[in-house]
Amino acid sequence: MSLIDMERQITRTVPEDYKPLLSRLLVEAGYKGDPTALMKTGDPLAAAAELLKGKKVLEIGASPGLFVMRLQQAGVDVVGVDIEPWETDKARGIIPCDARDMSKALGDAKFDFIVSNGTMSREGLISNVPMPDKIAFFRLHYPNGMQTLNAHADGMAREINAELARHLKDGGAIIHVADEQIVTDVAGLPLKQVFARQSAEKNVVVLRKE
Ligand SMILES: C[S@@+](CC[C@H](N)C(=O)[O-])C[C@H]1O[C@@H](n2cnc3c(N)ncnc32)[C@H](O)[C@@H]1O
Repeated sequence: MSLIDMERQITRTVPEDYKPLLSRLLVEAGYKGDPTALMKTGDPLAAAAELLKGKKVLEIGASPGLFVMRLQQAGVDVVGVDIEPWETDKARGIIPCDARDMSKALGDAKFDFIVSNGTMSREGLISNVPMPDKIAFFRLHYPNGMQTLNAHADGMAREINAELARHLKDGGAIIHVADEQIVTDVAGLPLKQVFARQSAEKNVVVLRKE
């Protein structure tokens, strides 16, 4: 039995870090109870399976793939992509793909819910810079330091949201969650922000089609 198969059998809990995202996903999918209580004492994966029956979910920046795996185990139709997945992530089914252009990986598939956790902040978006010699890479590509790097991340966030709008079903929702400030500029895109909570704790932004 592979390590991933063992992992599938052993753990059936929602990764702690993903609870705020799952709470919001359930609310956007029509959950009427208190999602915080559900996370603490209930069975949020069973609730997700019920509420997301017949719906398609996509997670971007999905490495290491644990959330996607848990939802799949619960019976949810979900796929995950990441620009730089590890081999173990790929074994969990995460598709290598830049969220700025998902046409090769996903064709023209459309989703009811597109979610991200820790990806759509400046920190999340530059986390894919090649690891081996990050400093040399930064010096070469970002000679003006943080300012250029932030502008790069902001531009990337915009391109990603434009691509997500193309893969979002009418009536669907995009949910971005992150510890850091989420980049929210969607001016000129066919998206409107319908919910935002940017706080010192988890930040949440929900976008729907115009
Ligand atoms: C801070 S990590 C968060 C990982 C995971 N979602 C979690 O909550 O543990 C950000 C992830 O976004 C991915 N990422 C960054 N830019 C991306 C892009 N343009 N397309 C797809 N994934 C991207 C990175 O490779 C990284 O795995």
